[in-house]
Amino acid sequence: MKQSLLILGSMLTLGFPATINAEIVNVSTPNTSLILNAEKGGSLKILHYGDRLSATDLNSLSEAGASWRDAYPVYGILPQGEAAMSVTHADGNMTTDVEVTGVETKNDTDGSTVTTISMRDKVYPFDLNVNYRTYPGEDVIETWVDVKNNEKGTVKLNRFMSGYLPVRYGNVWLSQLYGSWANEGRVSETPLTHGVRMIKNKDGARNSHTSHGEIMLSLDGKPQENTGRTIGAALCYSGNYKLFIDTDDSNYHHFFAGINEENSAYNLKKGESFVTPPLALTYSDEGLSGVSRNFHRWGRNHRLHDGNKERKILLNSWEGVYFDIDEPTMAGMMEDIASMGGELFVMDDGWFGDKYPRDNDSTSLGDWVVDTDKLPNGIQSLIDTAEKNGIKFGIWIEPEMTNTVSELYEKHPEYIIKAPKRPATQGRGGTQLVLDLANPKVQDIVFQVVDTLTTKYPGIDYIKWDANAPIMDHGSQYLTADNQSHLYIDYHKGLEKTLDRIRAAHPNVTIQACASGGGRANWGILPWFDEFWTSDNNDALQRIYMQWGTSYFFPAIAMGSHISASPNHQTFRRIPVKFRADVAMSGRLGLELQPKNMTDEEKGIVKQAISDYKAIRPIVQFGDIYRLVSPYDGKGVASLMYVTPEKDDAVFYWWKTETFMNQQLPRVVMAGLNPDKTYKVTELNRIDNEPLSFEGKTFTGKYLMSNGLEIPLTHKVDYHKNSDYSSRVLRLTEVK
Ligand code: GLA
Repeated sequence: MKQSLLILGSMLTLGFPATINAEIVNVSTPNTSLILNAEKGGSLKILHYGDRLSATDLNSLSEAGASWRDAYPVYGILPQGEAAMSVTHADGNMTTDVEVTGVETKNDTDGSTVTTISMRDKVYPFDLNVNYRTYPGEDVIETWVDVKNNEKGTVKLNRFMSGYLPVRYGNVWLSQLYGSWANEGRVSETPLTHGVRMIKNKDGARNSHTSHGEIMLSLDGKPQENTGRTIGAALCYSGNYKLFIDTDDSNYHHFFAGINEENSAYNLKKGESFVTPPLALTYSDEGLSGVSRNFHRWGRNHRLHDGNKERKILLNSWEGVYFDIDEPTMAGMMEDIASMGGELFVMDDGWFGDKYPRDNDSTSLGDWVVDTDKLPNGIQSLIDTAEKNGIKFGIWIEPEMTNTVSELYEKHPEYIIKAPKRPATQGRGGTQLVLDLANPKVQDIVFQVVDTLTTKYPGIDYIKWDANAPIMDHGSQYLTADNQSHLYIDYHKGLEKTLDRIRAAHPNVTIQACASGGGRANWGILPWFDEFWTSDNNDALQRIYMQWGTSYFFPAIAMGSHISASPNHQTFRRIPVKFRADVAMSGRLGLELQPKNMTDEEKGIVKQAISDYKAIRPIVQFGDIYRLVSPYDGKGVASLMYVTPEKDDAVFYWWKTETFMNQQLPRVVMAGLNPDKTYKVTELNRIDNEPLSFEGKTFTGKYLMSNGLEIPLTHKVDYHKNSDYSSRVLRLTEVK
């Protein structure tokens, strides 16, 4: 069904009470509706957010008995509740009281439709617009706010949330991601109780190592993967955020999300505007996975850079050689990845620095010139080697940063972030500093790093853009004394501006958002990036947990997922390459090791995995996710699948998460298939000496979705190859 966006006339015609001169705004998507009342001269009210309403229900909505809440509460009058916006007017007045002045619907150049409800303070020339964007065919509504100060002097914005949503009090559960460096994307599920639940970020530069700026709210009790009414919310912002849910004595859980206003009061000069980042909302009655599918589809189609282009299978040099980069080693790695069927080689950290060569993490950031001791024939010769091997070439940079030991810092100490009168706090390597992206000169430098590299070497196909430090001092050498509170926001405005320039000049380079692993998994940064690095931890077992959580909000195409060495460099766990490959194959497949150190047998398995991945790549990267058994449920197994939108092809993943003798695992029931279609089962990445009993057999979608298949707990391999790991990847292809 096509999305529609109607502004229905007076409520009188809809049977609403005659005393209210109401104007119903219906922001509907194929399966969801957001219904507002935007009567002129009144305050904007929200009547419904959830499943798509029929004309009949829309007509009777006012009689459904629910109270109407402000769609965007502002601070000052009856200030007891939480507000989405709080400002100090030019004359010092702390109260704001806005009324609707108009409603407008416009089609944007990208095919989306934007509905804007304009409001103005009843006393002050302070304009506040609430916006809603929908895209044809997508069940996501983006909302944001813009304000304009037409007052006589500066207005101070104390809080400026992107959006607010009242959720009816009940057995509502919150799903959120938490974690840490090397343990990103952990799932937490808890019921909402009275009081405030806050999820926040104050890193300054990156924002998803610890908590995430996305949540889900399950309205029917404990979250289920494929059933239950579920709301999803994703704040699309690369900087500090705050999401909170206030469960008070009303009938509602009040959800707010936006830029974290703490220490970030924004002074809006006369005539200036401020636009918040968007908050993406979705709703599904198909549980957590339903919300994930909505986010993935919308994200791929409208936010992720080149979201509909297949990603290459790559080898990244970091865990293979760390800083020990030299020409023969790079050439060897390129040859090896090419021989296994890979398509891209990425040279990680350690390739640059002239006066100060980058031999460890304590020098050289900012000096983006090749270290000719390590690479005497420069970058072009590496690109040529890649070409000879029939693969592409990529390179690592960290353009937002510098070290005290660098030529950049020696020349321009004024470009770094630091507080007045105090020495700069130094990060990674004991010397790392963050460049002040609020400063347009720094924006130029960051632009030039990418522009120079990609212009000089058009053969650079891929950039790994890292960011390995938080903002460590609240101070800008560029911003004026009275605007120091703008630092966190202006850093990200500067970053976005720079990324806009980079993308305008270089739309086709694949760019990965890395930030000490998974520090930049957020829809706010992905419009300029093709993917993110999920974590610096490549341990396949722990990755199942991390990628599970990350998949709540982000699609496999964006999730860098690499086969690394055993023992693993983070957990020191020894995992056979088959299991490592089967986990990596559920995201954007790559390798993160020195192939020289692999056995021939391991190379053979990886070669097979790469070839199999190529066959299923469109299903994994563009398909719909159905998570089946969560590793967090402790059942000893985790399982998920991807299904094409046509439901004619699917990939099923099954990973055993623990091993005990005679353990009993549940038989996994599939989801997302067409019950009436028949599917042929083929095992991918097979290591067993004999095929599975159901290899090549056909089953109906109905059977697979009500019974599943009995997956053997172990592999049938030669005795010395037995291990405590077991996993399966099955392809289900429709038989016509
Ligand atoms: C960060 C990244 C790693 C690697 C190193 C290089 O930690 O997350 O993948 O690129 O930097 O220094």
